[in-house]
Amino acid sequence: MSSNIININNVKKSFGDKVIFENVSFVINEGDFIIFVGKSGGGKTTILNLLAKIDVPDSGDISYLNDSLKERTSFIFQNFYLVDYFTSYENVILPLEYAKDITDKSSVIDLFKRFDIEDTIDKNVKKLSGGEKQRVSLIRALLRKPKIIFCDEPTGSLDKINEQIVMKHLAEINKEGITIIMVTHNENLIAYANRVLIIDGFNIYEKI
Ligand SMILES: Nc1ncnc2c1ncn2[C@@H]1O[C@H](COP(=O)(O)OP(=O)(O)OP(=O)(O)O)[C@@H](O)[C@H]1O
Ligand SMILES: [Mg+2]
Repeated sequence: MSSNIININNVKKSFGDKVIFENVSFVINEGDFIIFVGKSGGGKTTILNLLAKIDVPDSGDISYLNDSLKERTSFIFQNFYLVDYFTSYENVILPLEYAKDITDKSSVIDLFKRFDIEDTIDKNVKKLSGGEKQRVSLIRALLRKPKIIFCDEPTGSLDKINEQIVMKHLAEINKEGITIIMVTHNENLIAYANRVLIIDGFNIYEKI
């Protein structure tokens, strides 16, 4: 039996006098691979930021099952947010050093092997392709040992081949028990999800 890990109850969000959505309610279950689809400017990044508690709703509430879960989330940004003049390896351990988390080098290298980018470890990220950078972001996210990963257009800047590689990795991670919450404008990706939510007008509803 899967349990509700995030409850979204009657949420309204606006910027100034522009309403993005209102009366939005749904639940996220442990183990979900949720894809939100919607057009550009429809509120995809907004809902992801609200769910990840980067932003707050005007009214209604978004509640996590417990606080420890809230602390075990990772966010993969559309534009990677990697530090250009650092190597891949330095980029993924940077937040760990900051948080004083200890991870042995071999477990980091294992992740580079798993995602098939071992040869980028000592390369400056500036020299990496989009697909490689997205996998570095994924490694950085995983090293926090998250229970939930939020992904904002994780394939937005990738070609078809890299898009499939990244989606396959996300599906694999999800099978291992991590809840994936992703937004995209690309309807071709919805086959990877167990649930699809459509952002349409002021509303977010489940595709059936
Ligand atoms: N901080 C902000 N202040 C004012 N308006 C904002 C802010 N953030 C987003 N908006 C507006 O809210 C709407 C939804 O933005 P959002 O970034 O969620 O769209 P999106 O679906 O992610 O679009 P895209 O596919 O282009 O990334 C847009 O009209 C945007 O201009
Ligand atoms: Mg966006």
